[in-house]
Amino acid sequence: MAKAAAVHFSCAECGYSTGRWLGRCPGCGSFGTLAEESLPAANGSAQPKALLRLAEVEVDEAKRISTGVPELDRVLGGGLVPASLVLVGGEPGVGKSTLLLNALGEISRDRRALLVTGEESVAQVKLRAARLGGCDGIEILAETELDAVCATLEREQPAVCVIDSVQTLWSQEIGSAPGSVSQVREAAARLLRVSKESGVATFLVGHVTKDGSVAGPRVLEHLVDCVLQFEGDRYHAHRILRAVKNRFGSTNELGVFEMTGAGLIGVPDPSEIFGKTHGGEIGAAVTCTLEGTRPLLLEIQALVAPTDLAMPRRVGTGVDPKRLAMIVAVLSRHAGLPLGTADVFVNVAGGVRIDEPGADLGIGLAIASAAKGVPVREGLAAFGEIGLTGRLRPATQADRRVEECRKFGCETVLGPGSETLRQALQAALADFAN
Ligand SMILES: Nc1ncnc2c1ncn2[C@@H]1O[C@H](COP(=O)(O)OP(=O)(O)OP(=O)(O)O)[C@@H](O)[C@H]1O
Ligand SMILES: [Mg+2]
Repeated sequence: MAKAAAVHFSCAECGYSTGRWLGRCPGCGSFGTLAEESLPAANGSAQPKALLRLAEVEVDEAKRISTGVPELDRVLGGGLVPASLVLVGGEPGVGKSTLLLNALGEISRDRRALLVTGEESVAQVKLRAARLGGCDGIEILAETELDAVCATLEREQPAVCVIDSVQTLWSQEIGSAPGSVSQVREAAARLLRVSKESGVATFLVGHVTKDGSVAGPRVLEHLVDCVLQFEGDRYHAHRILRAVKNRFGSTNELGVFEMTGAGLIGVPDPSEIFGKTHGGEIGAAVTCTLEGTRPLLLEIQALVAPTDLAMPRRVGTGVDPKRLAMIVAVLSRHAGLPLGTADVFVNVAGGVRIDEPGADLGIGLAIASAAKGVPVREGLAAFGEIGLTGRLRPATQADRRVEECRKFGCETVLGPGSETLRQALQAALADFAN
């Protein structure tokens, strides 16, 4: 007797799959996100294939394609690798379409560049292109049917293609709605095959959910060659592009853009914008972080306010909350700051998010300055990891950080020479007596 087709449910948020329907996904805890899916039929007629030795493999040195947007090139590790698949994730309205339209415009000057738009009509894209300028050479296809998109790519073979967005593509073979995990996974897998076989470097635009992961298809991150995250506050003009995964370059590489009426403009020297403090301001400190290969000066602001709450608040924007709680605890215990009855708020300039521990000392300094009511000495920058014992650990690549601090006029750089947090605070704050 033929085996009945297996019934299969998968979660639209995290991709968890199970054999029976459940109200709550055991993978991510969301309610009502499991939907039935049909699995593609397996075909059992596979033939063994011939093997090759690596020495016999011939490659023509893959030359990277410059996107014409220097900040994007930097994040990609020096340009776009031909036939690669790049996922660009970001919140709605952060500027994904704008950035990629800018890049396509530049690429179309000497290569074929195709935009597949499923979200906006051709007329809407035209309006944006007119605002940005320099986009006349881009070819455009308004299509959401996966088969049609793949067939077009195979026939036209453009050098670079942008799919805006992968969530709008749908295939008839898969029963579920566009944007569901199985549709997105199928779309990415098919586009991966087409891009490798036809040599089309493909950007996939993907939306991200509230918690910052690319909506639904976590699985996508494994399929693609690079995952770029486009972040930034919609209410600020500055946007940050980060490589979360990169098969052809370093991760955590950072690109900084400013959103203007004429599109996204690259910011070659972000330290100059984010690392500025106003002399004599209480609760502000400058730190130097290292994102990928790029040292970056950042202003950190802190506010320490008395509170009646039994559990004082520690609120950080752009800082990891656990890290912040730890720094506050070390400051109380090892530097004698009375933070137990105070709310502590910390903010990083320009909507930048700090991921590395090298910025600890800068955060600690801003909090200590706010708590003591004493400004940090002028022209001082600090970096270093704060240990639980109150001792400072050296940050990686200290020389490059010091160099960046000096370049932007910080005469005193705290961190590499200091042994303990207390010593550093004494050096940075005018009357940090105890
Ligand atoms: N005339 C303008 N001047 C300045 N900024 C503009 C102008 N028009 C649009 N923008 C900016 O562009 C942003 C939208 O960019 P874009 O459409 O590229 O975002 P997106 O990430 O593709 O969004 P979605 O996820 O909705 O597709 C807006 O948030 C706005 O800040
Ligand atoms: Mg868009």
